[in-house]
Amino acid sequence: MVIPKRVVFVLALLPLLWISWLAFRDALGAHPVERVIHFTGQWTLNFLLITLTVTPLRQYSGWNGLLRIRRMLGLFAFFYGTLHLLSYAGIDQWFDWHAIVHDIVKHPYILAGLSGYLTMLPLALTSNAWAVSKLKTRWKKLHRLAYLVPALGVLHFTWLVKKDLTQPLIYGTLLLILLVLRLPFQSQWRATR
Ligand code: HEM
Repeated sequence: MVIPKRVVFVLALLPLLWISWLAFRDALGAHPVERVIHFTGQWTLNFLLITLTVTPLRQYSGWNGLLRIRRMLGLFAFFYGTLHLLSYAGIDQWFDWHAIVHDIVKHPYILAGLSGYLTMLPLALTSNAWAVSKLKTRWKKLHRLAYLVPALGVLHFTWLVKKDLTQPLIYGTLLLILLVLRLPFQSQWRATR
């Protein structure tokens, strides 16, 4: 079965439409900026994990049509990550670079988030056919960073939460499961090589 890319594209835009609708109706609550930062942060992590689900789902089900949408899902993770970064640096800090640097020094969890975003950057820039053909085997090596990004995202989330660790723990467990699910296929691939 082939999933139409257009359907995935529209579905992936729904979180953005939802938060924009809330903003338009002035219904973001008492702390609108925080609400937007948290919402976009969660959706960055959601898309990172959804993207990592594609390969094991394809391997276990044999549903090869899924591969068509993997790149788009990864790019949506980057898109929501960019919105998250912009809501923090732009709406929260008004692009005051001194305040941002001061905040990073004071709250190292922001550095973990920033590292996650900067790791995503080369992946997003090389997620096109031209880069795949130019980088050849190095492309695969580079794109192994796709495992590091959600790990940094989970670290960032765990670090920033003050009391209730339930949500970061759920994300961390899901990430671990997704990585473990790949192991049988990794060893199979090595054996055939
Ligand atoms: C891979 C990249 C990133 C991911 C996956 C990510 C994810 C998250 C998540 C899940 C949250 C918590 C949402 C909640 O509480 O419900 C969050 C909060 C936050 N993130 Fe990120 N983030 C990333 C990058 C960044 C970057 C680049 C910055 C800024 C330079 C940043 C700054 C923040 C801030 C300020 C908060 C709110 C902290 C608070 O509640 O006091 N994040 N992020």
